[in-house]
Amino acid sequence: MTATIIDGRAVSREIRDELRQRVEALKRKGVTPGLAFVLVGDNPASMSYVASKNQGAAEVGINSHTFQLPADTPQDAVIEVVQSLNCDPTWSGILVQLPLPRAISEDAVINAIDPAKDVDGIHPANIGRLLRGEPTFKPATPAGIQQLLLRSGNDPAGKHVVICGRSNIVGKPLAAILMQKAPGANATVTVCHTRTRDLAAMTLQADILVAAMGAARAITGDMVREGTVVIDVGNNRIEDATRKSGFRLVGDVDYDAVIEKAAAITPVPGGVGPMTVTMLLYNTVLAAERRFE
Ligand SMILES: NC(=O)c1ccc[n+]([C@@H]2O[C@H](COP(=O)([O-])OP(=O)(O)OC[C@H]3O[C@@H](n4cnc5c(N)ncnc54)[C@H](OP(=O)(O)O)[C@@H]3O)[C@@H](O)[C@H]2O)c1
Repeated sequence: MTATIIDGRAVSREIRDELRQRVEALKRKGVTPGLAFVLVGDNPASMSYVASKNQGAAEVGINSHTFQLPADTPQDAVIEVVQSLNCDPTWSGILVQLPLPRAISEDAVINAIDPAKDVDGIHPANIGRLLRGEPTFKPATPAGIQQLLLRSGNDPAGKHVVICGRSNIVGKPLAAILMQKAPGANATVTVCHTRTRDLAAMTLQADILVAAMGAARAITGDMVREGTVVIDVGNNRIEDATRKSGFRLVGDVDYDAVIEKAAAITPVPGGVGPMTVTMLLYNTVLAAERRFE
């Protein structure tokens, strides 16, 4: 069996087209969705992530702005900026770009975001709602994985989903999303981590296998059963002397081996990655719609 490739770029374009229409509908009612970024310091990776999110926002018609503060801004001053954005109706959504400088408590800043504007879905109130199956903002990467599954014809309902990784931004919220008694979910979910005794014994039971470990090519061909749908969240740089940059990106899955057994697989790059910014934009449009309603 050779796997079908789940094309994250194509799914992402499809969702952005839908978002553009929803933004136009909001604008006809006099509402322009707004997305405020809070960036503390000038970490090049963070600056580049924020730039690509700003670009994505512009592409679908969302008004966005980056509130950049010096790296030595005191925690209270960062929280004041967040609180002023909470009160400003221009902004439907607020995203605090992480990581923050060490002197600032990320928890304190995240807790200051109005949950109704927390389009990153990381406020504890929103995580609680997610677990309870209440309306909330699904964190972008797991929300993107759910959309990739649904839009590629792989509804997780009734399937055994094995998630390798239990981080707060991917593994745990994905488990919370897919286990719900709700359309697009209803899966039986197993979450694995570094203390899982026999990882292969778990992955071999998966109908849908999600690798979110940050360990290059850790899921090898012998760990995957014929016909499994494989979602590779990993984004690992490995040395590659043939590349000008000296490196290339690989996932957490040994793609060349697993593609021979999987029913469907996401590539790296071009799978989960393109979905993350798109789902942030999705949440921003949703926040504006909820506010209007
Ligand atoms: N494409 C995207 O948009 C996107 C977004 C987010 C993340 N990512 C990528 O996804 C990967 C995971 O990110 P993350 O933030 O979730 O990572 P993380 O916070 O480092 O968590 C990794 C998780 O994987 C588990 N793990 C690591 N090695 C393992 C192994 N050999 N066997 C079993 N479990 C193992 C860890 O277990 P313990 O809990 O026991 O330590 C941990 O729960 C990274 O490559 C990251 O770059 C991509």
